[in-house]
Amino acid sequence: MSARPAVLVTRRIPSSVLATLDASCDVDLYVGEERIAREELLRRVRGKRALICLLTDLVDREVLEAGADLRIVANIAVGYDNLDVAGARARGIEVTNTPDVLTEATAECTWALILAITRRVAEGERLLRAGAWKGWALDFMLGSELRGKQLGIVGLGRIGLAVAVRAPAFGMRVAYATADAVPAGGGLLPVPPMEEMSLDRLLATSHVVSLHVPLTDRTRHLIDGRALARMRRNAFLVNTSRGPVIDEAALAWALRERLIAGAALDVYEREPAVHPDLLSLENVVLAPHIGSATTETRTAMAELAVRNVLAVLSGQPALTPIPGPPLVRRRDGA
Ligand code: DGY
Repeated sequence: MSARPAVLVTRRIPSSVLATLDASCDVDLYVGEERIAREELLRRVRGKRALICLLTDLVDREVLEAGADLRIVANIAVGYDNLDVAGARARGIEVTNTPDVLTEATAECTWALILAITRRVAEGERLLRAGAWKGWALDFMLGSELRGKQLGIVGLGRIGLAVAVRAPAFGMRVAYATADAVPAGGGLLPVPPMEEMSLDRLLATSHVVSLHVPLTDRTRHLIDGRALARMRRNAFLVNTSRGPVIDEAALAWALRERLIAGAALDVYEREPAVHPDLLSLENVVLAPHIGSATTETRTAMAELAVRNVLAVLSGQPALTPIPGPPLVRRRDGA
């Protein structure tokens, strides 16, 4: 094996970040426009000491077996439902993600979606581009104001809190439902008063419900037909977490039947596919999973993944390990 560790990177990363990795590793960079094909991933991970991957790459038992020499899998994402964390750690492979660096960008995108759906921005743009705008009218394209209304945050982790602290700027009060510990601070902005409530009560009382839970067995289809039926008829649902948290078919039904006023989505159950019924509805804003997609944030995410790899390959602890079962010591002692 070469003295320089071999690293597989499954998608182009910013050249300045790649240069840092190149300086001490033999980098195998996948440069295709689409996600790396499964067979290609299985072939190219062989003999690699590190894998830098994306949320679109499924790193399951088969990949971990093919990558028998791996010491670390570094996901360029905060979410890690694409990784077999327990399986990796049982093989002595560290697993890392990219928390914190994308919090603000994702919170900003969430507010972009809240404003877009409540003020019908995308719907209005479609109408205008179709040449159907007849000019200003008193009752044309009336939206819904945020001031004085309740923002319900489901999952008050880092991103949920960053969304919540922006609510006072729009005159909204905040309620939250969470199963996890609430983070201590809100970053640059003060934390507003927030009322904790059950998910059922939050759904029944909020005008905007924004989802910020990780995808787990517990949160898959958390928002199903029953949950949607609990929401107010004038409420909006926003999702920048993971698509399968919502039952998309049930959401399409609720939007069609006007059980809720609208939805704004950045993530989908079977990306890049979108439930066909959603595509034909006006009361839904559909964004292509761009929550963290700013130049600054995507660079910071790639940088953090590379720093994790360099740390682990030089025998240091990872900067942002994913919590999980203890890392099993490898037989080769590495
Ligand atoms: C993540 O990091 O999990 C986000 O979904 C990427 O935008």
